[in-house]
Amino acid sequence: MKTPTAAIWLGFATTALSQCKVPTTYKWNSTDALASPKSGWVALKDFTTAPYNGKQLVYASTHDSGSTYGSMAFGLVENWSDLASAAQTKMTAATVAPSLFYFEPKDTWVLAYQWGSTAFSYKTSSDPTDANGWSSAEALFSGTISDAASGPIDQAIIGDDTNMYLFFCGDNGKIYRSSMDIDSFPGSFGSASTVVMSDTSNNLFEAVQVYTVQGQNTYLMTVEAIGSNGRYFRSFTATSLGGSWTANAATESSPFAGKANSGATWTDDISHGELVRTSANQTNTIDMCNLQLLYQGRDPSSSADYDLLPYKPGVLTLQT
Ligand SMILES: *[C@@H]1O[C@H](CO)[C@@H](O)[C@H](O)[C@H]1NC(C)=O
Ligand SMILES: *[C@@H]1O[C@H](CO)[C@@H](O)[C@H](O)[C@H]1NC(C)=O
Ligand SMILES: *[C@@H]1O[C@H](CO)[C@@H](O)[C@H](O)[C@H]1NC(C)=O
Repeated sequence: MKTPTAAIWLGFATTALSQCKVPTTYKWNSTDALASPKSGWVALKDFTTAPYNGKQLVYASTHDSGSTYGSMAFGLVENWSDLASAAQTKMTAATVAPSLFYFEPKDTWVLAYQWGSTAFSYKTSSDPTDANGWSSAEALFSGTISDAASGPIDQAIIGDDTNMYLFFCGDNGKIYRSSMDIDSFPGSFGSASTVVMSDTSNNLFEAVQVYTVQGQNTYLMTVEAIGSNGRYFRSFTATSLGGSWTANAATESSPFAGKANSGATWTDDISHGELVRTSANQTNTIDMCNLQLLYQGRDPSSSADYDLLPYKPGVLTLQT
């Protein structure tokens, strides 16, 4: 009797430790601003972060004091506070609003971005720590959308066992989806897309991200909204990536993450960034028992044209 009992007990213990459910109310704490842009830039934005050898790789958009977006990578960080002193490497070819992940089936790193020669593009590399070592650009998505102020914006890429999915925004209250067979990736999603959610522009604005929730047969989508107290994230869940999405924490007063629940004192905006994943692979897996959000925030008293607002990185930690 002893051995089976022990095995069963350990099984339960493992389950309890690694499989937290998606909550319906969220409460976070926040770091202060973790880094300032180096000379020549007024903002660091649109963070993507992937685990790498026990550290975190962070890529971001930049904006200069004129009218130009660019991109950069931080040196690897072990602790978020290390962002303050980490190297900030300018990328010679801009990859704006980047998404970084490791595509396991082909053993390659992928960096996707917007505003290349097609709506979304990607590059590959065997060494994601080399910010300027990426391949030349390939088309990721070449479609257009009819009623968007921005055109397709802010790609999010995620895979299940059989397909790769591309989700994106249009600053127009719609979330779009395209898909392809996983065996054809990396490659182009073509030009077709489907609208998977519609609301007001403010309620489904931009910065969509989609994650696999570890141990839950659930996917989590976060979308940046424009609220009366700043930018905030709404969340949705689905049981399949090709399926429909259900509101999870989707109001400004009880958001996924925003002024109402962030705990941040240096910023009202909780804006474009990414949840910290348990692995860098294409599943974008997150652990609800241990959740952090790398986001962009700004001094609430700052005022400038949107592109010049002094966004900086901060990190929220979910309080359980
Ligand atoms: C946030 O909470 C975590 C525990 O969940 C704690 O370890 C961390 O120090 C807190 N961070 C801040 C900035 O208060
Ligand atoms: C990161 O934090 C841990 C725990 O506080 C510490 O042991 C480690 O030395 C830190 N790493 C760096 C690179 O500062
Ligand atoms: C991707 O990472 C997750 C989380 O660590 C892991 O469970 C999974 O086996 C990895 N690979 C694939 C193809 O899902």
